[in-house]
Amino acid sequence: MNLKTITMEWTGDSLILVDQRKLPHVVEHVECKSYQDVARAIKEMIVRGAPAIGAVAAFGFVLGAKQLAHLEGKNLVESMEVVHKTLACTRPTAVNLFWALERMRRKLDNNADDVDTLLSVLEQEAVKIAEEDIQVNRAIGMHGQTLLKDGDTVLTHCNAGALATVDYGTALGVIRAAVENGKKIKVYVDETRPYLQGARLTAWELVQLGVETILITDNMAGWVMKQGKVDAVIVGADRIAANGDVANKIGTYSVAVLANRNGVPFYVAAPISTIDVKIKDGSEIPIEERSHEEVTHLNGKRIAAEGVRVFNPAFDVTEHELVNAIITQNGILRPPYQESIKKLFLQGGKM
Ligand code: MRU
Repeated sequence: MNLKTITMEWTGDSLILVDQRKLPHVVEHVECKSYQDVARAIKEMIVRGAPAIGAVAAFGFVLGAKQLAHLEGKNLVESMEVVHKTLACTRPTAVNLFWALERMRRKLDNNADDVDTLLSVLEQEAVKIAEEDIQVNRAIGMHGQTLLKDGDTVLTHCNAGALATVDYGTALGVIRAAVENGKKIKVYVDETRPYLQGARLTAWELVQLGVETILITDNMAGWVMKQGKVDAVIVGADRIAANGDVANKIGTYSVAVLANRNGVPFYVAAPISTIDVKIKDGSEIPIEERSHEEVTHLNGKRIAAEGVRVFNPAFDVTEHELVNAIITQNGILRPPYQESIKKLFLQGGKM
């Protein structure tokens, strides 16, 4: 079984990832031949973005099962615990990672009797997770584009494009779908300090798509909105709590506050797998803290005074009150989210 997109390629024996650390300067690929390689790729940000790391972890699970295929039955299931743990311990905030691993684990538990069947079932499930992600993003785009008019200008933060997913993107998927529906859309892209996903990845994707793109530094977003230049903010999400609180890339919260202050609608585009109904509100979402060097250095060169202390949370939480709508593959959720999310899950919550 094979699958190939801009973000990843599954060859049947290995997973090839575009090295997102090197973009936009060079398009280089990294081949993962083991679950350890996949875990390292997630941890080191070769691949990033909530849906992408979920799908990649699923392929890591398959590689782990292949590595342990000499074991059988109960021994194999027990040894897969290490594979699951290694992949799950890579990054804490995006729930899609745990969601995808849980799907893989269920297949493992139900098919452990015969190794050949197990390997084939696991591979099918990982490919299904990846293929579903593309369909889900297209559906998010289709629903989300109804919120945009011809001639609108959108502001986005971080990268919720094809690179952050298996393909097509969530927030950028909405923009793509609007353009595909004949609407002219302009996009302001926050550079997204400290890791610069906006400048490096979102700007790269949008320019390639031929969308008019204006790059700004994060601290310009408020002023741009105040001047009436933005019709809507659309961002992705790493985890959404049962009450609609949204964890996304650090800086999203500031953008949401500024959008609210300036009367600009703030939309979140995310697959239902990003909604964690086990978590009551945003205060329970684990926030990853990353290396201090991301703040003190730019392009490997120190910019901050020696000896300074640093705080580097990679995500923040935007309260549900600031979110005008959550765009999912099943439609657009509106406040009160406690109710709209509950209703979505009661209806099955899946595509
Ligand atoms: O640290 P990253 O680059 O993995 O963070 C990515 C984001 O915050 C995205 O906005 C989010 O994962 C949604 S991607 C469709």
